[in-house]
Amino acid sequence: MLTPQPVAWSADESLASHLEQRGISRRQFVEFCGQMAAVLGLSSLAAPRIASALETLKRPSVVWLQLQECTGCVESVIRTSEPTIGDLVLDVISLDYQHTLMAAAGAAAEKALADTTKHNAGKYLLVVTGSVPTNAHGIYTTIGGKTARSVLEETAKGAAAVIALGACAHWGSVQASKPNPTGAVGVSEIIRDKPVVNIAGCPPIADVVTATIVHYLTYNRLPALDADGRPRFAYQNRIHDQCPKRAHYDAGQFVRAFDDDGARKGYCLYEVGCKGPATFSPCPIFMWNSRTSWPIGAGHPCIGCTERNFWDTMTPFYNRLPNVVGVGVEHTADVLGASLALGALAGVGAHAAATGIYQIRSRHHARSTQLPPASAPPEAYKAPSAVTTSQHKED
Ligand code: SF4
Ligand code: SF4
Ligand code: F3S
Repeated sequence: MLTPQPVAWSADESLASHLEQRGISRRQFVEFCGQMAAVLGLSSLAAPRIASALETLKRPSVVWLQLQECTGCVESVIRTSEPTIGDLVLDVISLDYQHTLMAAAGAAAEKALADTTKHNAGKYLLVVTGSVPTNAHGIYTTIGGKTARSVLEETAKGAAAVIALGACAHWGSVQASKPNPTGAVGVSEIIRDKPVVNIAGCPPIADVVTATIVHYLTYNRLPALDADGRPRFAYQNRIHDQCPKRAHYDAGQFVRAFDDDGARKGYCLYEVGCKGPATFSPCPIFMWNSRTSWPIGAGHPCIGCTERNFWDTMTPFYNRLPNVVGVGVEHTADVLGASLALGALAGVGAHAAATGIYQIRSRHHARSTQLPPASAPPEAYKAPSAVTTSQHKED
């Protein structure tokens, strides 16, 4: 277990020497770089390059704005059961301005933001959580007397790149759900003249945040993105295709009520509303709280929180999706349930076929998941967002 000591990081000190002073060994640091390469979907050959880029790093500046949001994203990123090197990397680069975590408040905090953006113009990373209210001239969220929109626009001017962290910053989330009284929009609706990466989820996974920042620091550019601006390394696979309960789905073994025998046996949650078949996210792999659990692992259906408009398109959360029919190839849950004897064989074929179908669909569909109302026929189901950017070349 890592036991970092609190040591201040001076401006001209490298990250490697700072971590050493905090009790992190070279071996642990290299292991961390290997983990980051794996998270980014790169080969192990990329690890030395990541290590070499990070160890010479000199206090990169990150400004973190919190707009119209619930602070859950901040909690997700900073709360772990033990400090990791990832926490330390985020910790040491992210505190130039963060109004929940920083000691300064009021005018002193505003001055810190102004000083940071002035002294690091063109170089700092801007992280944003929360949506931007646009109705009534944006008065629904103000910081230091300025609207969230004007603070965002001003701060983004000097940023090298922008990370929109969480569903609120990605597309507006619950505030933007119908009827969207504040006119909430995501960051990329406001900032259009520089790269914005959407780290989707409510909240997103801390490892994805760390890996995106590590990628930026190593290669001096953001990772490859899908059509919705999400990093491909994290959001290119469906939850349904990575889910440990998939064998139960394929075998037609479903939870029908949260306290039934199927629930006790850990069966598939499709019948109680799981949106995993329509959701792209690495939740089953990375998980939360030092990889101890995730929603489906805890017995709760996925509500599709990494998909744009999920409050409108994935609700009612506890109603099952319309049957996910793969043009006559992927069996529906009902067919599978009625054909247990053939379940395993059908499931293997269905899984492979479904993956192919979704990859093919992904190349042809733009942007967000669109699910029909619960009463709509299955044919109305549309595949989730497309992947349009090129493969990783970094390793
Ligand atoms: Fe809160 Fe979810 Fe918005 Fe993050 S994305 S600020 S957890 S509502
Ligand atoms: Fe897992 Fe949900 Fe798919 Fe069942 S429907 S296999 S619980 S993702
Ligand atoms: Fe969200 Fe579903 Fe993962 S609800 S956290 S995308 S399991």
